[in-house]
Amino acid sequence: MSFDLVFFGGTGDLTWRKLMPALFQAFRHGKLPEGGRILAVARDDQSDERYREWLKERFREVDGAKRPNDEEFEKFAALIHYRRMDLSQPEHYQGLKDWLDARNADTVVLYLATSPHLFTGICQQLGAVGLNHDKVRVVLEKPLGHDLASAQEINRAVRGVFAESQAFRIDHYLGKPSVQNLMALRFGNALFEPLWRRESIANIQITLAERLGVGTRGAFYDGTGALRDMIQNHALQLLTMIAMEPPSTNDADAIRDEKLKVLRSLKPFTAESVARDVVRGQYRAGNIEGKAVPGYLEEVKVPADSQCETFVALRTEVNNWRWAGVPFYLRTGKRLAERDAEIVVNFRPVPHKIFPGASQPNRLVIKLQPEDGLELQLLAQKGAGAGEQLTPVSLDLDFDKAFATQRVGAYERLLLDAIAGRLNLFVRSDEQEQAWRWVEPILDAWAADTSGPRPYSAGSWGPAAASALVARDGFSWAEEQ
Ligand code: BG6
Repeated sequence: MSFDLVFFGGTGDLTWRKLMPALFQAFRHGKLPEGGRILAVARDDQSDERYREWLKERFREVDGAKRPNDEEFEKFAALIHYRRMDLSQPEHYQGLKDWLDARNADTVVLYLATSPHLFTGICQQLGAVGLNHDKVRVVLEKPLGHDLASAQEINRAVRGVFAESQAFRIDHYLGKPSVQNLMALRFGNALFEPLWRRESIANIQITLAERLGVGTRGAFYDGTGALRDMIQNHALQLLTMIAMEPPSTNDADAIRDEKLKVLRSLKPFTAESVARDVVRGQYRAGNIEGKAVPGYLEEVKVPADSQCETFVALRTEVNNWRWAGVPFYLRTGKRLAERDAEIVVNFRPVPHKIFPGASQPNRLVIKLQPEDGLELQLLAQKGAGAGEQLTPVSLDLDFDKAFATQRVGAYERLLLDAIAGRLNLFVRSDEQEQAWRWVEPILDAWAADTSGPRPYSAGSWGPAAASALVARDGFSWAEEQ
């Protein structure tokens, strides 16, 4: 199958940091379909050769194991072309179309790795020159909008030109092997599904914790914040996969219909419940792995009086028969104690205790990163004699170890899926808009509340109020147990 893959924003960070290295991995693994061309498009005037040299330099900054040697780079670079385009000039789109038409590949993937404020204009121009025919797919990189209205505007522009089946909205978390494994865990095994409901589960915690600060992204981040950057997309996508009903097939729309139902069932926020159930924080200077790090307000390009949140913890519920009354706690933050993404399913305690000592309820920990695995925490007896208390033990599965050589990175998987036209791991416009609809009352309540985010020290687990949020229900975060 021949394909042409075009990166708008061909000299941008996303392209050289994530997309080109991911494509190179696909190439190295022999997964890139034969007969492919990769075209980088940007403003600068340069030749294919100059672009390839520039890219080779950039690759030196890529993680060692993922870096090509000279010979590999030469082979990979032969697929890469460069084209100058001023995205505001209609004739430049015609030029692109002519270039693509001359080859007439089976599939044309147009990846918009530009600033999102350009999406609407680019889509309209692509439509105007007919670069929206059946063989074309468009890939849209986050952030997809800043709020519901801007997300809808982008979606209207995309829909005005492309069919929904041609639109591939990226949430790179869906490309992570550990996240795909959630589907396998729930719907490929009969073991958990009967327990996967309010009768057996006390609460569910989703934590996406980062050690990194905002680094050089201060200007972007300050206009975004943790709620838009991580909760509206990544955390909510995880929640839908945990809470959804079994889809009737493994097809994109069967899955996305079920995910949408979850988003529609989420308890809506009011100004009152935001004040009670949402905690926002901002990091101050502190220590990460023994090294002093600055506070958010001291970061480059962050205004000294910024009220931008770098941490969010919230409590919500899924209002349906399966989940009524079960708290779902979501938490994300920068400069936290660990880099740790996990989902903790806390089961209910035994209904009647016959053993001495404290009885710790069972817990299933779905580890997303840095480790990728499953841990089932149980209680056992050592056999040490009469009157013995139960001892916590765990069944521990390490998927990285088990499947190491076969694992494919998130962007690699998503790029290959976009080329192959598989939509399962991409977000549909109605899901994305519903997620904004749910998040908006939080943004509104914060805008009206000048008290701002609560400070927390870099290297901690966020403001104490996040612990209080969970403690109020009689629970605690996993690291506090
Ligand atoms: C991105 C956010 O979507 O996800 C970043 O914009 C964040 O702020 C990143 O650091 C986290 O992704 P990962 O794959 O490193 O967990």
